Amino acid sequence: MKQLESPTDWLEARKIKTRGREDQRPANIFQGGWQVETAEVQGVQVVKLSAWLKGTDSAPQSYAVVEADFGDGASDSENGSAVLSADANAAYSWTKATLEKLPFNMEWQQSSESRWNFYFNLPVESVCMGLGERLSGFNLRGRVHTLFNYSDDVHVPTLDPLYKSIPFLIIRHQSQYHGIFLDSPARQRWSLDVDLDETAGIELLSRRGWTMYMFSNTSLPDLLASYTALTGRSKLPPTWALGHHQSRWSYPDEKTVLEVAQEFRARKIPCDAIVLDIDYMDEYRVFTLSPDRFANFKDMVSRLQDNKFRVVAIVDPGVKKDAKYFVYRDGKKHDYFCKKADGKTFYGKVWPGQSVFPDFLREDVRLWWAALHGFFIENNISGIWNDMNEPCLLGQGCPLPLDAIELPKEHHQLFMQHDGEGDVGHFEVRNLYGFQMSRSTYEGLRALRPDERPFVLTRAGYAGVQRYAAVWLGDNMSWWEHLALSVPMLLNVGLSGVPFCGVDVGGFGDDCTPELLARWYAVGMFYPFFRNHCSKVGAEQEPWAFSQRVEDSVRHFIETRYQLLPYIRNLFWEHARTGAPIMRPMIWDYPEDHFAAEIDDQFLFGRDILVTPILKRGQRERSVYLPEGIWHPYEGGAPLLGGQLHKVAFELDEVPAFVRDGAIIPFVDTIQSTDDYELTPITFKVWGDQAIGLYLDDDGISFEYEEEGYNEWLLRFEDGEFRSDLVNFGYIAPERDYFYEHNGKKQRVVLQRG
Ligand code: GLC
Repeated sequence: MKQLESPTDWLEARKIKTRGREDQRPANIFQGGWQVETAEVQGVQVVKLSAWLKGTDSAPQSYAVVEADFGDGASDSENGSAVLSADANAAYSWTKATLEKLPFNMEWQQSSESRWNFYFNLPVESVCMGLGERLSGFNLRGRVHTLFNYSDDVHVPTLDPLYKSIPFLIIRHQSQYHGIFLDSPARQRWSLDVDLDETAGIELLSRRGWTMYMFSNTSLPDLLASYTALTGRSKLPPTWALGHHQSRWSYPDEKTVLEVAQEFRARKIPCDAIVLDIDYMDEYRVFTLSPDRFANFKDMVSRLQDNKFRVVAIVDPGVKKDAKYFVYRDGKKHDYFCKKADGKTFYGKVWPGQSVFPDFLREDVRLWWAALHGFFIENNISGIWNDMNEPCLLGQGCPLPLDAIELPKEHHQLFMQHDGEGDVGHFEVRNLYGFQMSRSTYEGLRALRPDERPFVLTRAGYAGVQRYAAVWLGDNMSWWEHLALSVPMLLNVGLSGVPFCGVDVGGFGDDCTPELLARWYAVGMFYPFFRNHCSKVGAEQEPWAFSQRVEDSVRHFIETRYQLLPYIRNLFWEHARTGAPIMRPMIWDYPEDHFAAEIDDQFLFGRDILVTPILKRGQRERSVYLPEGIWHPYEGGAPLLGGQLHKVAFELDEVPAFVRDGAIIPFVDTIQSTDDYELTPITFKVWGDQAIGLYLDDDGISFEYEEEGYNEWLLRFEDGEFRSDLVNFGYIAPERDYFYEHNGKKQRVVLQRG
C-alpha cells in the first residue's frame, strides 16, 4: 500500500487521475469476466453491469439488493394516494444485453491489482444528489466524496467520509433523473466534476468484483421507487418511535432517568422515549446493567411504562476483553470475533477499554448476537440504538489514509472477516459492518418479539440499511451551521433510500443556546426521527433547560409534531409503498421548477407541508420561495401565491411552514404520549375549497398491516361537502371521534367501516 506519509508520496498520488480525459488514465489491466443485463424495475429501465476477477466465474454477491422481495408498488399519482403492490413478490427478469454505449458514457477499468476506475460524463448544468450521508449542501457537485464508514466528532467543512456509505448518486439533467448505484462495500471515492471539465469518476479500492446499476431518464419519484425496489424499503415503524425521544450521554442513574421523565409529564411536554446511553451498563459491558446506579432496572422501566414512556438502550459492537464476562467468553469459545490476518484475535480500544468485535458478516454470529437481545426483552426495553459501528476505535484516526490509492494487503486491514464465501479483509467489506450489526439487532428483536415492529437506530450503514434501522447523523455540534446543514444532509439521506432519519436536535457537541434550541425544535419537529441528544461535556438542553419562553416554544413544536402523527404515519405508508422519502426537496413535486431545484434551506414534509425554517442566529424574517399554487401559513393568516419569493417573519414560537391549498391533513388532538393515540379524536383539516387527502389507520405496533390489517380512506372536499371513501377495511380500531374542519368550522364526521 502507498502509506502516503511523505509529501512526495502525496504528490505522486495526486498525479494518478481518478477522473478526466482518456489520455490521462492509467492502463487497463482487467482480465476477468463481465456482463451487461437490463430489466425494467418498477417502470424504470435499469442497466446492470457486473465484473468479476479472473479465476472467479460469476458476478459477485450482492449485499444491498433484495431482488426477490419487492414488486410493483406503483403509486397512484392521480389522487395522491398509493396502492400496495398486487404482486409484492414479483422478481425482475434480467436479460443479457449488448449495448454500444453504457448510460452516461460510463467507462470502467481495473487500474491495478486493487483499484478500479470508472469514468462518466456530468453535463455542466446537472445537479448531483444522494450518496447517503454527505457533509454538504444539497448539490454534491464540485467535490470528492469518500465512502468509507468513519466516525468523526467535529464535522467541519473539510470533513469527507462520515458514518454511512450509500453509493447511489442521483443526477438531475434537464428535468430528467438518472441514477448510478455501485454495489460494493469497499472504499469508493466519487469525484464529481472537481476539475470543472464535465467529467466525473469513481475510484474503488477492491480486489473483488462489483455490480453497478444505472437508471436512466425518469422522474425523481420513479427513480426512488426503482432504487428502493432493489435495495428494500422500511417497514412501518411502531407509532411510539415517531414521537419525541429524549436522550443524553448519559443520564447516570435511575433517579435521574425517572426525574427527567417526570419533568416531561409535569410540564406537559409530550414525549414517548427515554434513551439510555452507555452509562446504564456495568463498565460498558454490552448486555449488562450497572449494579449500583441501575440496581432496580426492571422496576425503573415499568415505572416509566406506567407513565407511558418507552425505553431505548444503546448497544455498541465492542465487547470488553474480560475473561469473566459471559459475552466475551461465549464469543471467544465459538470463535465469533474478528481476527487479524495472522489468526490472532483483534483487540481495539472503545468505551470498555480493550475490546473484541463480532464478525457480523457471518450468519452464525448475527444469530448469536440477535439472541443476546433476549436480555432486553426480559427487561422490557422497546428499542435498540446501535452506535460506534463503523466500527470506531478510540484514539485512532481513519484506518485507511484518505488519499490511499491502493488497498493495503490483508495484514494491514485491521482484521479479517468471513462472508460465507471465504475470508475477506475488513476494508473490502467495512461499509457493511454497521449494516450487518443493525440487521442482526432487527432480526433478533423481530424473532424475540414477533408481534411488535422493532425499532433499531444505527449510526453506520450501507445501501439498504433502511430495511433494518432508522439513522441519525452522528455527532453534530450545537452550531447554527449544523442546524442549517441538517436540511440538505437529511434530504440526501432520504433520496438515498433511507426515510427514517434525523440529527441530534439541539446539537450533540458544544453548548446549545436558548435561541438555537427553539429554532432547532422548529425544524426538528419535521425530522422523521425526532430526538434531543447531547454529549456529557455540553450544557443541558432538555426542553426546560433555558427560559420559560424557550420552553413554551419547544412545547408548542413538540405538541405540533404529535398533532401531525396521523399525517406522519401516512408518509411512512407512502414510503413503504413507493420508496418516497419523508423529507423531500421541492423538485420532488415540482420537477419543472428550475428555481426550486437547488434550494436547500426549505423542504417538503410529504406533499402538503412546506417547511421554511429560520436557520440563522438573530434572524426573524427570511425569504421563502413558494412553488406554484396557493400556500397557507401553518399557523393561520392570509394565503400566499406560489411561483415567487416572499419575505416572511417567524417568531420564536411559530411553526415555520406552509400548507398546500387543496390538502386535507389528518390531525390528532394533543397527546402526551402515543399510548393515547388510538382513543384520541382526529380532525381532518381542509385547506382550500377543493381538497383531497388520505387517512390510514392500523394498530401502530404489529405486522398485521402486511396482512390487510389496516384501514384506508380517501378524503375529498368538494362543493362545500366533505366525503370519505373507504379503500380498505381490515382493522377493528377502538371507537374514537372524527371531525373535519374547514374555514375554522368543525363538524363531526362518521367514517364508513367495513
Ligand atoms: C458516540 C455517539 C453519541 C453517544 C456517545 C456515547 O459519540 O455518536 O451519540 O452519545 O458515543 O455513547
